[in-house]
Amino acid sequence: MNLSNMWIRGRGMLVASVFLVSAWALLAQEAYNEPWRPQFHFTPPKNFMNDPNGLVYYKGEYHLFYQYNPQGAEWGHMSWGHAVSTDMLHWKNLPLAIPEEPGQYMIYSGSAVVDWHNASGLCASTDTADPSCLIAIYTAAGARVQRQHLAFSNDRGRTWTNYPGNPVADLKQPDFRDPKVFWYESEKKWVMVAVLADARKAVFFDSRDLKKWTFSGSFETGGNDKGQWECPDLFELAVDGDPKNKKWVLIVNRNPGAPAGGTGTRYFVGSFEGAHFLNETPAGQELWADYGKDFYATNSFSDIPPKDGRRIWIGWISNWQYANREPTLIWRGGQSLPRELGLTQFPDGIRLVQKPIGEAKSLRERELLQLSNVSIPMAMQAMHLANVRGETLEIEAELAPRAAREIGFRLRKGGTEETVLGITAEDKQVFVDRTRSGQVAFAPEFPGRHKAKLRQSSHVKLHIFLDRSSVEIFVNDGEVVLTDRIYPSPGSDGIELYSNEGRGKVLSLSIWKLGSIWH
Ligand code: FRU
Repeated sequence: MNLSNMWIRGRGMLVASVFLVSAWALLAQEAYNEPWRPQFHFTPPKNFMNDPNGLVYYKGEYHLFYQYNPQGAEWGHMSWGHAVSTDMLHWKNLPLAIPEEPGQYMIYSGSAVVDWHNASGLCASTDTADPSCLIAIYTAAGARVQRQHLAFSNDRGRTWTNYPGNPVADLKQPDFRDPKVFWYESEKKWVMVAVLADARKAVFFDSRDLKKWTFSGSFETGGNDKGQWECPDLFELAVDGDPKNKKWVLIVNRNPGAPAGGTGTRYFVGSFEGAHFLNETPAGQELWADYGKDFYATNSFSDIPPKDGRRIWIGWISNWQYANREPTLIWRGGQSLPRELGLTQFPDGIRLVQKPIGEAKSLRERELLQLSNVSIPMAMQAMHLANVRGETLEIEAELAPRAAREIGFRLRKGGTEETVLGITAEDKQVFVDRTRSGQVAFAPEFPGRHKAKLRQSSHVKLHIFLDRSSVEIFVNDGEVVLTDRIYPSPGSDGIELYSNEGRGKVLSLSIWKLGSIWH
């Protein structure tokens, strides 16, 4: 081959590779831009995702593992998918972390912890100052039995090895699953809380080395409850931020039986002494973390540094009633915004409160509007003049219904489509009505109105995160939260305020356009 030929070939290759690189960049940009593709919530590039798993912070990275079907957009072949982030918002997709063992078992939900001092003996580090590694404990779900398995990673979660001594916990039960492991400082031991799903029982185990687990106790509510308990969690939180007044919260995800129907997240407040959870929530009081229809299978982060000290969780934004039928095609299932948890003492008891993590402010791309002390018609006019609309918005509002029976927002409005977020003053309720929110007919359980009781409705604070196919609403400093998926037409991006005869007052209103975490 002569030189000029080589040059032409070389140039051809260069042109071809420039073309390929730009086509790839275009495709990458196109990806995560489909209709309904959440712009600031995590979704996998393709295929089915359900529960968040193994949330852990380690060496500057937040890890999100998740229930994943690598082969299709419906539930099956469950494995652990993986993404990492430095702020819990901007995620980088990584290869599959733990694949199913075909013909033997699938990899169901579970948790991950940092084994700081190599208690497991599985950490390979030769650095005496930092002998740590990551340990995951998940359910190996076989056809007839579910057992807890351990896997370890010595390369910051990039690759995982199943422990040869698996299972590490086995009750010879078909529905023993979803282990959540945490370090119990006062007895210097690891605790695992898992469920016997059909018996609606939380079971506790403890361990010194993460490999040998001993059954230590259980918790159930009795009664003639139906359905399953799934994905438990157990953590301690300060009441009203007072470190001298701490309570334990036992989370059980409930399938079905949630306030909006289908699956949802229930909790109990009490104390925990290493083996027994003592429930202090009075019998007959059912406490729920979210009143929308799409918040389930929560998992809280392990190993957030003590100087940060936050308890942060993520939930899967779907519902088992229709998770396999949601109208997205390439992927199905999304994760909620990470939320910081707290406990607040109210006259009627101690309650879980949630707020979006402070990092979420970094999603704000542009302020579209800011007003205070105006009437509803004035606010409407200002919104109209500023041409406030969009598929990805953050809204902070304080509304006083005064003489209005009902006051609120019409979100994702266009033609006959709207998602209504309203306050009904007299019965002190907040609701989301998604019956006309766009595509609703893919499942009979999807359309509906989801409501929750507020302690007061005279001055209602709303913090709303609107993404291309979801709405998350934190009401009155997170004492009530509603999370709902919606599937509006792409052009339905209007937003309005409403009230009866324009009554009521907008005490304050700020609206931001949020940017995309993918582009
Ligand atoms: C909850 C759940 C878990 C189980 C996983 C299987 O959504 O049913 O109990 O581990 O999903 O994908």
